[in-house]
Amino acid sequence: MAKKVVLAYSGGLDTSVAVRWMIEQWGVEVVCVLVDVGQDPDSSESFESIRSRALAAGAMDFVVVDAREEMARYFCGPAIAANALYEGKYPLVSALSRPVIVRHLVDQARTFGADAVAHGSTGKGNDQVRFEVGVHALAPDLDVLAPVRLWGMSRADSVDFAEKWGIPIKATKEKIYSIDENLWGRAIECGEIEDPWAPPPEEPYTLTRIRTDVPVELTISFRQGVPVALDGEAMGLADLLKALTDRVGPTGFGRLDMVENRRVGIKSREVYECPAALALITAHADLEDLVLERELHHEKARLQIRWAELVYDGMWFSPLKEALDAFFQETQRHVSGDVRMRFEAPGVGRVTGRRSPEALYDLGLATYEAADSFNHFDSEGFVKIYGLGLKTWAARQGAKNATPQS
Ligand code: ARG
Repeated sequence: MAKKVVLAYSGGLDTSVAVRWMIEQWGVEVVCVLVDVGQDPDSSESFESIRSRALAAGAMDFVVVDAREEMARYFCGPAIAANALYEGKYPLVSALSRPVIVRHLVDQARTFGADAVAHGSTGKGNDQVRFEVGVHALAPDLDVLAPVRLWGMSRADSVDFAEKWGIPIKATKEKIYSIDENLWGRAIECGEIEDPWAPPPEEPYTLTRIRTDVPVELTISFRQGVPVALDGEAMGLADLLKALTDRVGPTGFGRLDMVENRRVGIKSREVYECPAALALITAHADLEDLVLERELHHEKARLQIRWAELVYDGMWFSPLKEALDAFFQETQRHVSGDVRMRFEAPGVGRVTGRRSPEALYDLGLATYEAADSFNHFDSEGFVKIYGLGLKTWAARQGAKNATPQS
């Protein structure tokens, strides 16, 4: 059994109770690590008050790691390059933050000489998979402990447990939503959302409450696939995500309501708000339409689906995912330029223009005006040869099938 454990600590009920529970059940020492991935930017309590909760629960130490820049650059950046949308919709909000947290858990485990790490995920979700598979990929020697999956306590039991041990918690016995947040967006589960027919409640949304005049128009600039400026103002990706969330969220853009397939075989209805993520992926994909050569573009689209599945499934640190990153990196060499988007409430945002010095769009070829540079006579032979096989088939075998039979 492990002796010293580094716990991914959020400051919430479950991870606070987990500190004391692990000490009592397993006799371990617990170090709490809070990884700041941009969660709860407005209403968060101070790290000081979270620290005192961790210590009150019995932790031997508490560490905060600011991983916002890292998450933006090395996790959201590749997700933009991959236009990553799991099942065509979900921009992987929670799936992207877990490997960031895993990296720091392993780091802190080494610093503190711990022999295990722990997380507060339940047995029904994807996050346990991401934590455990991720830790084992980086540190096969470390144990991973999942107290919440084992303890069999209801929420009310946990509140009683916290009271008994004098752990100061804000949570009450009724909790409606389970919310996970970072600078890529917010994931909301539980409560009435569990009924797939029930319309999503307005209450849990924070980023996309409508509170601005529309339309909002803005221009996003990309350099080699990376967003580098908003309306001409250069900024780092973490700042850009924040600025974009603040500009676009209040138009109501960025909500998702979906039934998704979890890795553990459960279908679940979830709602999300990810204004920055969805705006950036939309803009980036549009710029690629302008600059990517056709065959590369089509092949990339196929591989993007795989990348999103791998990341959703907790395979961030896998060789296949890294090889796909290398491929996407290569595809981004010419993805530089500007994309203009227009947002109209409620929740509508679309691209209204794109430009790039690297554009493959050639007006001389594309125009229907008289002064084009396209040789129309070349098309005649091309089309004949292109359709020759089909024509031969039709003459011998197929023509009778070409018209519907009555
Ligand atoms: N279903 C989403 C995912 O698997 C969101 C999970 C949200 N996690 C949470 N602890 N509420 O990525």
